[in-house]
Amino acid sequence: MIDDHDDDAPGDPGHREADAREFLPLLEKLNAEHGFDFREYKTPSLARRIRRRMRQVQAASVDDYARQLESTPGEYDALLDVLLVNVTHFFRDPDVWAVLRKRILPALLEAHQPPRILRIWSAGCSSGEEAFTAAICVAECLGREASTFDVKIYATDLDEDALATARAALYRVDALKDVPPELVSRHFQKEGQLYRVRREIRKWTIFGRHDLTRDPPLPHIDLLLCRNVLIYFDVSLQRRLVPRFAYALRPGGFLVLGRAESLLAAPPFEPFDFKCRIFQRGNLPDRARLSSDEFVPPGFVRQARADARVAFRFHTIVDALPAAVMAIDHDDTIVTWNAGAESLFGIPQTVAIGKKFRDLDISYRVDGLRSAIEDAKRGDGLARLPPVVFKDRKGVDVHVELSLGRIANEDDRVGVVVTALDVTDVAALRTELQRVHEQATTANEELQSTNEELETTNEELQSTNEELETTNEELQSTNEELESTVEELQCTNAELGTMNAELENRSADLDRSDRYHRLVLDALAEAVILLDPGLEVTHWNHAAVRLWGLKPEDGLGRPVANLPVPELARSAAAAARTAVETRRTTTVPAVPYALPGGERRSAVVHVVPLLAGDGAPVGVAVIASPTDTPGDGG
Ligand SMILES: C[S@@+](CC[C@H](N)C(=O)[O-])C[C@H]1O[C@@H](n2cnc3c(N)ncnc32)[C@H](O)[C@@H]1O
Repeated sequence: MIDDHDDDAPGDPGHREADAREFLPLLEKLNAEHGFDFREYKTPSLARRIRRRMRQVQAASVDDYARQLESTPGEYDALLDVLLVNVTHFFRDPDVWAVLRKRILPALLEAHQPPRILRIWSAGCSSGEEAFTAAICVAECLGREASTFDVKIYATDLDEDALATARAALYRVDALKDVPPELVSRHFQKEGQLYRVRREIRKWTIFGRHDLTRDPPLPHIDLLLCRNVLIYFDVSLQRRLVPRFAYALRPGGFLVLGRAESLLAAPPFEPFDFKCRIFQRGNLPDRARLSSDEFVPPGFVRQARADARVAFRFHTIVDALPAAVMAIDHDDTIVTWNAGAESLFGIPQTVAIGKKFRDLDISYRVDGLRSAIEDAKRGDGLARLPPVVFKDRKGVDVHVELSLGRIANEDDRVGVVVTALDVTDVAALRTELQRVHEQATTANEELQSTNEELETTNEELQSTNEELETTNEELQSTNEELESTVEELQCTNAELGTMNAELENRSADLDRSDRYHRLVLDALAEAVILLDPGLEVTHWNHAAVRLWGLKPEDGLGRPVANLPVPELARSAAAAARTAVETRRTTTVPAVPYALPGGERRSAVVHVVPLLAGDGAPVGVAVIASPTDTPGDGG
């Protein structure tokens, strides 16, 4: 942590001044854009800290760093951390606290008659250790009487982060190293590894942001602790604070400075303990001066307090309004700038008030606002502008509704009060509504087209259905026809069965008759062969086997002319042809022939044509009977 006391390293002062001037534009920027005015802080020490930060972020030049400050989120806070040295601890400078506990606090408490109020102000309180040390000392002095006193310890600082730590009142054990153990156990409670200041002490403290160089001092203070803050200010700024401190302290009140701060040993302050840098404000009210060269006339303080109360109430009311309110005088000077305007436009009240409106970037960031203000002053503008959009410091779009009203000052000169209502949420909702509406319209259109498609599909389905019904009917009738066909077939089948049975019977009859006729043919002594109209052999009896010397299976199917006994075969064939042609029986009386063994024989051959009913020849019967039996010698 940086030590606040050895911050200014020795060196050639002239050289240091020259060096530090290059940072002036950066300090101007911090003042104009963020409301932190370091321009009257000791420049060498500021310059050294800024350079250290520049080295950490590798900025090549101040311009380069200024650009980084704009573009890098969090850099601005980091720079503030560097510029505002927050070094502090409980019971810092124990001898000072010893004097406060033993001499000053008892005296102050003693002096207070009912309603017994004690007001302490820790200005530049950092993370709260100084304010809580004061509270612990008061509690120790009051003992059991603590509840009978209305103790108020105002603890203020410029650094919001430090104030947040102070409000939490939670500290690491090493922060308590200078707190006597009995006070630790009486005024702190352990929470895990940390220690929290007890509620009875905390309830006396009120933390708030306050800039010693700009904000009005807090009044009626009994004890003002402003330690190790003035060492960062240059001499002229320190001088300007003397009357403010004088105004803050009630006559007889005490001012405690840091070890290295002594400049304020000037009227109306008198050293009380110079070694501990404790001063007492003189008793006479008219010795307090509001500025180093201005005398405060009697009655000023009362009137000023009354005015301050009215102004305070006015500002509290205007600050509490949800809208951003700014009042601009006839000459373009901003006279009112409430908390809403501060947060909406990102410009602190301390920066805006007293500035010309045209000098604030917001005058051109919000389109049409300047001309609307001029129109309003002339009395011919719109009282309410249509919503406008501008970008905030983070580049985010902000939607505002602006209303303008004319105001007259004491000299009847006309200014304007502008009210800006942040309607970003409403605009977002409107956009969302529009989107939802468009979605709904699209969905509706899609639904309609889907509906139409469904209707078409439905019609198609209906016609398909009708077709199916027709097909069904056709199928039904086909089915019926098929059924009747089946019945007919069944009936035909039955008839066929009957016919089949008959045929089988007849076939059996035929077989029987065939066998019978064969038997008859085989019983004959003559050789009988039957020929078809083409003169091929179809029947062959036993006697034929003997005559022709051929088994039936070898004779059947052969043309008669090819039978093995050639003379007999030729005669039979010639006679058969004649019989077919003439349709008459032909007899060849003696046909000589030779048996395969060379034996000579002869036979009578009758050829009988077999005629159908209509006389057409269906075959020929060849009946051959040898005229001589073997051995006859014939
Ligand atoms: C070194 S600390 C002193 C803390 C404590 N008073 C002490 O002596 O232990 C200086 C504090 O002064 C604060 N400070 C610097 N400029 C200030 C200003 N213009 N108004 C109020 N506080 C300021 C810083 O933020 C820082 O917290």
